[in-house]
Formats: sequence, C-alpha cells, structure tokens
Amino acid sequence: MSELRSFSNILVTGGAGFIGSNFIRYLFSDAGFGGRVVNLDALTYAGNPQNLADIAAVYPDRYVFVHGDIRDAALVQKVFAEYDIDAVVHFAAESHVDRSILDPQSFITTNVMGTYTLLEAARQAWKGRYGDGAAQETGATGRSADTGPSTASSVLFHHISTDEVYGSLGEEGAFKETTPYDPRSPYSASKASSDFLVKAYGHTYGLPVTISNCSNNYGPYQFPEKLIPLMILNMLEGKPLPVYGDGRNIRDWLYVVDHNAAVWTIMTRGRIGETYNIGGENEWENIRLLHRLIEMVAESTGKPVRQLEELITYVKDRPGHDRRYAIDCSKLKNELGWKQSVSFDEGLRHTVRWYLDNPGWIASVRSGAYREWIEKNYGDRS
Ligand code: NAD
Ligand code: TYD
Repeated sequence: MSELRSFSNILVTGGAGFIGSNFIRYLFSDAGFGGRVVNLDALTYAGNPQNLADIAAVYPDRYVFVHGDIRDAALVQKVFAEYDIDAVVHFAAESHVDRSILDPQSFITTNVMGTYTLLEAARQAWKGRYGDGAAQETGATGRSADTGPSTASSVLFHHISTDEVYGSLGEEGAFKETTPYDPRSPYSASKASSDFLVKAYGHTYGLPVTISNCSNNYGPYQFPEKLIPLMILNMLEGKPLPVYGDGRNIRDWLYVVDHNAAVWTIMTRGRIGETYNIGGENEWENIRLLHRLIEMVAESTGKPVRQLEELITYVKDRPGHDRRYAIDCSKLKNELGWKQSVSFDEGLRHTVRWYLDNPGWIASVRSGAYREWIEKNYGDRS
C-alpha cells in the first residue's frame, strides 16, 4: 500500500452544503484530521453555516469559515495565501438538476468558471511545490499512464463530481471510470466541463489532481429539494409526493458518510491524476424507494401506510430525465480498499430519524429564517 499523504490546511469549498458539511464533520471525527479546515462558501439557498455551528464552537482555532464566492479570484487567492492551503476539496457547486433546467446560468458560472478560478489560484499558489512546467517540457502528464502510479505530492486538488457526466444507462451495465462522457442536463454538462478543466490542469501543468464521480448521496442535512428529504418532509406535512414520469427511473444510492470516507481515502492514498468512481451498489427504482420510505416514516410516526400512500402523485416528467444511473466502483475497492459500511435500511432509517429529530433545522431552511442568522453572523465577513 502506498504511503499516506498528509495535509495541514485543507480548503473545503461548499462546506456549508449537504455533502461538504458532512465531510467537514467527518474530518474532525472519523478521519482524525489534526490540521485546520477552511470552509469557503457563498451561502446560496443551499448553504447553511448552522450545519456546522457545533464544529465551529468546539474547534475555534482549527475551523475557519470564509463567506465568499469561488468565482471571486482575488478572494480565492487571498484564502490560499492567508491560510497556507495545501489541499483543496472542491464541493461548491449548483447541484440540483431541476434548477439547472429552469435557469442554467449560475450552473455555468459557478461550476465551470468557479472551478477554473480555483484551479488557477492553486496553480499560482503552489508554484514550486509540484512538478509544474515539467509536464509540458517532458511530455509527462502527471497521470499514471505516463508517469506510473504516484502518490508523492505535498499539495493536492481533489474535485468532487457526479456519475451524471456519463449520461444514462439502459437496463444493463454500470458506469466505469473509462465510460465516455455524455452529459445530458445543463447541470451534468457544467460538471463535465469542470471535470475536463481539472483533467486539463493535471495534464498540461502537472497540477496534482484527483477526481471522484459519485452516485446519488443521501443522509442528514440534505436540502429538501432532492428526492429523499423532499418526500420525508412532504409526508410529515401531508403534502403530495410528486413522482416524475412513470416512477421507474433508477438511481444508485450512497450514504453520505460512506461517500466522504471514500473521498478521504482518495485524498490520502489515491494516485495523482486518477479518477475514482464512488457508488452505493444500491440501485432502486424511484417508486420502489418511495414505498420503502413510506414504510419507515409510518413506523417512526405512527401514521398509517395507507394514508401516506394516498399522497403519491404522478406528475409530468422532468425534461430529458436520465433513466438509470449505476456506478461500478471496483477500482476504488480493489486499489484503495474502500467499501460501503452502511446498509440502505440503516442509512435510510437514520436519515428519517434525523429529519424527525430536527424540526428546527427544517423550519429554518423552509422559511428561509436561517438567512437572517447568516446575515447577523456572517454578513460582515464577505
Ligand atoms: P449542495 O447544493 O447541498 O451544496 C452546495 C454548496 O456550495 C452550498 O453550501 C452553496 O452555498 C455552495 N456554493 C454554491 N455556489 C457557490 C459559489 N459560487 N461559491 C462558493 N460556494 C458556493 O450540494 P451537495 O449535494 O452537497 O453537492 C456537493 C458536490 O457534490 C457538488 O459538486 C455536486 O455536484 C456533487 N455531487 C452531489 C451529489 C448528490 O447526490 N448530492 C451526487 C454527485 C455529486
Ligand atoms: P434528485 O434527488 O433530484 O437527484 P438527481 O436528479 O440528481 O438524480 O432526483 C432523484 C430521482 O427522483 C430522479 O430520477 C428524479 C426523481 N424525482 C421525483 O420523481 N420527484 C421529485 O420531486 C424529485 C425532486 C425527484
């Protein structure tokens, strides 16, 4: 097994969102990370710094929140310099497919231009700390195909991407790292563009990069516009459960903590220049998943299953709705020894419980009240 990479100051972008906040929590707990975490987040509708209020209170010296935009080149450069950043894990993005269909612009500016801005800042800030320039002079790309397996680097840019860049599957097969890109929504097209930029910076400048493409995450702190939290909250409120199309689209569900353990494994042990797929190996048709969720909510709340089932409402399909996603994550499992640790039943049960136990979080997200809290606490830091 290759040597472990270690970092002192990790820049997490989008750390106030769903996966990013869970990742920071993971760094301070299971990962045993002993350095400093700088969370750069613009606090869009999806960003809520209250997600990490406990971490901020317990680690005032090791957790820093910077309210700012990854598209702001001057700010990003300042963050690299001020905190001596030696690793980036880049979660910040516009992440919801339906929003990208209604209004793609911010997906292009944040996901594409924002990623470019971060890459450029890393390239400038880390000059002399990696083989910059060598790639062009020698023809080496920094990728294993050209340079052989390598984990040696004192700096790292890890980019978080999605399985949606690979397009849509038929009934058989699963996406591998070598599957050609075929993005089909404005969201997935913007993520594919950002992946290509990251690969280009690795190839052209030798910037030490790693990329992960994961399947649908679920778990605590997910904004209630995505399927699982939306359905849980609508059940609690007796609202319709909108099922797009025939409800038979398939997603491969991954528990957010398992995802974050995989990201940390790649950051510390993955080969530079490589892409790793992360999946749950857990495919569910949407309608089947909804029935499972109904059973769990019924069990936890005492509401009759029948009453919840009556809320199911088939609605017009999402335009261009991808039929099936499934991830082949054998590379990550075989090469780095990662595996999922939480069964779907356990993860889903824990998620339902979390939403039931956190009415304050839900109310503040739904009413937008957390924005006032942001204004009061972070308004002067941007
Ligand atoms: P999210 O929407 O919950 O959070 C995104 C975060 O990024 C928010 O805190 C938001 O304020 C911040 N942000 C947005 N624009 C920004 C900007 N211009 N500058 C700084 N911060 C900005 O998203 P998520 O579900 O946590 O997803 C995180 C990453 O994982 C994204 O890159 C997404 O594409 C990827 N991903 C998510 C899933 C999933 O199932 N949620 C699956 C595959 C990949
Ligand atoms: P979503 O959580 O938006 O993730 P993604 O589109 O990135 O996979 O949706 C998951 C699946 O659930 C997808 O097939 C669309 C479907 N869906 C519904 O049927 N109803 C809904 O209200 C939502 C939000 C999604």
